[in-house]
Amino acid sequence: MATIKKKKYSDNSNFYTENFANFWDSTQSWGPDANALNLCRYYEQIVSNGNKTLLDIGCGTGNFALYFLQKSYTVTGLDLSEEMLRHARKKTESFIKNGKAKFIQGDARYFKFNTKFALATCFGWCLNHLDGEEDLENLFRSTFNAVEEGGYFFFNFLTEKGFANRNYVRTSDSEKQSSTECWLYHPETEKVSHKFSGFIQSSLGKYYVRFQQTLTLNFHKSITIKRLLSKTGWKEIYFSLPYKPSNPIPSTDEVTPCAWCVAKK
Ligand SMILES: C[S@@+](CC[C@H](N)C(=O)[O-])C[C@H]1O[C@@H](n2cnc3c(N)ncnc32)[C@H](O)[C@@H]1O
Repeated sequence: MATIKKKKYSDNSNFYTENFANFWDSTQSWGPDANALNLCRYYEQIVSNGNKTLLDIGCGTGNFALYFLQKSYTVTGLDLSEEMLRHARKKTESFIKNGKAKFIQGDARYFKFNTKFALATCFGWCLNHLDGEEDLENLFRSTFNAVEEGGYFFFNFLTEKGFANRNYVRTSDSEKQSSTECWLYHPETEKVSHKFSGFIQSSLGKYYVRFQQTLTLNFHKSITIKRLLSKTGWKEIYFSLPYKPSNPIPSTDEVTPCAWCVAKK
């Protein structure tokens, strides 16, 4: 795989640290992830006897990948953060050993593979990390080139309308971490900041470390997403509420804080 780095990435690249990877796994990895479960179930309904190859873009700590590996897929995960990838590799060690999984550091906007995948996914607000139409177009084009003819691309994203009405603070406490997450919408920039702080158990498990980080997320209108997907060659594009890809909705901006999108090559 070759990654071509063009436009500089935003300050968010410092957000996905070892602390965040530990935090993400301590709050997200209980039981099969609802995104992976619902996506896999739907995908196997619409594509029977497909070639079971998945490219997971913005794969993070590999929870999504692990779910598909356990369903006999061959999975390639791509992510910018080495710390998140380290967790993914550890979690899927046995699959990596038998050649079913690999995890590669790279930018979701600029990547190229020599092989083609039947399915590409991009979940967990990865799209909201991208800033503007050029970034989106690059992601959609790179993914299009990596997917085989008739293959699918599924992703989710947060909508501005949903967040403008939904500033919130969430606290959570467990043996592994104690944290406060604060989501704040900024009307002047039309972005949302995700500030989180607290204490997290270190990877060695012996002590707790303090962390405080802020991530800035961008919003993209569904009409823009659809236009750029079409421009880069994707067909049969539709949106849905989370976990419900079998029920398409015409637009997402007014109805849901988080939406899914499906596109076919
Ligand atoms: C909130 S995490 C979600 C991880 C995973 N998809 C999940 O659902 O559990 C977002 C991930 O997107 C990755 N990411 C953000 N921008 C990226 C980019 N331009 N290229 C590759 N990965 C990116 C981050 O490093 C992070 O691991």
